[in-house]
Amino acid sequence: MDERSPRRLTREPRLVGLDTLDRAALAAEAAAGLCERPARLAPKFFYDALGSRLFEAITALDAYYLTRTERAIFDAHGRAIAAAVLARTGAAPVMVDLGAGNGEKAARLFPLLAPRRYFAVDIALEHLRDALLARQREHPAVEMVGVGQDFSREFSLPAAIGAPRSLVFYPGSSIGNFAPEDALRLLRQARAVAAGGALLIGVDLVKPAPLLEAAYDDELGVTAAFNLNVLCHLNRLLGADFAPRGWLHRARFDGDAARVEMHLEARAAVTVRWRGGERAFAAGERIHTENSYKWTVEAFAALLRDAGYAQPRHWSDAAGWFAVFVADA
Ligand code: AVI
Repeated sequence: MDERSPRRLTREPRLVGLDTLDRAALAAEAAAGLCERPARLAPKFFYDALGSRLFEAITALDAYYLTRTERAIFDAHGRAIAAAVLARTGAAPVMVDLGAGNGEKAARLFPLLAPRRYFAVDIALEHLRDALLARQREHPAVEMVGVGQDFSREFSLPAAIGAPRSLVFYPGSSIGNFAPEDALRLLRQARAVAAGGALLIGVDLVKPAPLLEAAYDDELGVTAAFNLNVLCHLNRLLGADFAPRGWLHRARFDGDAARVEMHLEARAAVTVRWRGGERAFAAGERIHTENSYKWTVEAFAALLRDAGYAQPRHWSDAAGWFAVFVADA
């Protein structure tokens, strides 16, 4: 490439931990979930290359208020949020982005946080690789490392690359995709990674059911495509023979459990086969594909304290739809 080109990459993002993603173990986990009664799949199976892009499309939908509301909180309170983080991590922190996706949310905070090193952790490797190349071009001064890791099982960074007093960044209310006891476990592991630093986390709050159900069942059918795409992913991962047209997207808020549930419902009786297994589904039978828990500010602050964090502070939007927390690790 031309030496004088402004787009020349002066620094290459590093990719590590790729071998920790065991496709055979992932396939076995998916097959076991399909055989449960009722059948269920962990939400991580959404995020193949297309699923990651469909999720990005969801974040642009009017009905999916989460992303723009969180962004508005950062726009309005970014300086105060950054000050709370840097008071704990010191200047030029190491930033660890959980479920980094395309890394844009973290990059938007770079002018305020000025991290010296950025770890992007994500299960979707191809997407991560492409996204990090783009982020590195935009921010040549930041050392970037992509970590391919299924952190929903166990989250740690190789000791050689971790750093004390780091910032763990977990935006988008992805913590809501964990049941409270699993969220507690993940937050504890994140605290060990932050090692005396800070956690910066976005959390979606409880609100009326119609708003929540519209966000998870949009009129354009983007969320339906995101949900159905898990079947295409399983076809590749397991050698399964799902026909996505035979399934319906379902989303509903369970107020008692404070969670939006997503399911796929068989339109007609069908037997699905894959390498080494099969499962017969009756018409109307469902596969539970996702829970998205909604929190109150008080309950989430209590969860952070239970996980060992101190001084949880939060910033919210005027409607009280979403909160961004900073807590001392
Ligand atoms: C990634 N996660 C926070 C999203 C959510 O809102 O639970 C995933 C999603 N599912 C349906 N729409 C978006």
